Amino acid sequence: MTLEQIRALVTDDLAAVDRLLRERSRSEVGLADQVARYIMGAGGKRLRAVLVLLCGRALGGLRHPDASFLLAAVIEFIHTASLLHDDVVDDSEVRRGRATANKVWGDEASVLGGDFFYSRAFGMIAEIDHSEVTRILANASNAIAEGELLELMHARRVGMDETQYLTIIEGKTAKLFEASCIAAARIEGASDECARELTDFGRLLGAAFQIADDAIDYLEDNPEADKSVGDDLAGGRLTLPYIYALREASEKDREFLHHAIQSGQREHIQEVCAIMHRSGAIDYAWKRAGEFAQRARERLDILNPSPWRDALDGVTEFSVSRRY
Ligand code: IPE
Ligand code: IPE
Ligand code: MG
Ligand code: MG
Repeated sequence: MTLEQIRALVTDDLAAVDRLLRERSRSEVGLADQVARYIMGAGGKRLRAVLVLLCGRALGGLRHPDASFLLAAVIEFIHTASLLHDDVVDDSEVRRGRATANKVWGDEASVLGGDFFYSRAFGMIAEIDHSEVTRILANASNAIAEGELLELMHARRVGMDETQYLTIIEGKTAKLFEASCIAAARIEGASDECARELTDFGRLLGAAFQIADDAIDYLEDNPEADKSVGDDLAGGRLTLPYIYALREASEKDREFLHHAIQSGQREHIQEVCAIMHRSGAIDYAWKRAGEFAQRARERLDILNPSPWRDALDGVTEFSVSRRY
């Protein structure tokens, strides 16, 4: 299933969410308004919003559409806030096919723009007025911050292993995927058993999604990329393909990888990509992403058959076959 086919199942719902994203991005303050419109207007896959809508449709048919639309918009705001901050941390140049906000307006505006989205999200969470959903979103936002900080602590530490890597991506990425599914389930009033399965689904899917993202960062000649690549190397981030290559590449290549990640120089990216290929690190990352996606899709058995359930399955497939 393509992302377009998946989105087509919730077209009207997504249009309602997009309306909210547009309206709630407005500000009387010129710079806030500019930054917010710029990054929201650039689009993005809106995958987390799609998850909220598909889970809601698959479970109860969106019994409380206003709450579900607000939830989808809140999650996209939290996600976008984290990207505005992440692009400063990673010194990235391209996001959603455009120059990053930090390159257009500077780091200060990008950080404060992120705060703008987080704080707008607070108000919308209050409107949803569902204490369990509030708790889920608070925890997910905190997990992103902790995950990003944990990643920073481990930068350039070549001893990092797969388990530590998985802890990082669970916090910075998987938690918000999980929150999208479980908060949608709570709004529909789903059973505890169902909520448990969807929690696992979201977490496993999120991990698969980030592992794929980390493989994409080392793909040469990828015309589909809509953001900077090679930033993980420049930032000294030990992602899964790098961890694997540091372990499995030839001795000469391993030495080069040590040097490249310590120095963080972008001129090494081509050679690093080549090593990633010949050591099997890229294949390994896709394989691991596929395993997580497979474990995620098994959790969908809890849902009654429906086109929305099939589309959730399609999201798992898309997440590990995408190149952007
Ligand atoms: C980017 O997320 C950050 C990661 C968790 C890898 P997306 O790839 O969902 O970004 P957009 O919203 O489509 O731009
Ligand atoms: C960070 O991961 C994702 C967030 C949770 C903010 P990355 O640094 O890999 O995300 P991209 O590649 O910049 O989108
Ligand atoms: Mg980044
Ligand atoms: Mg990345």
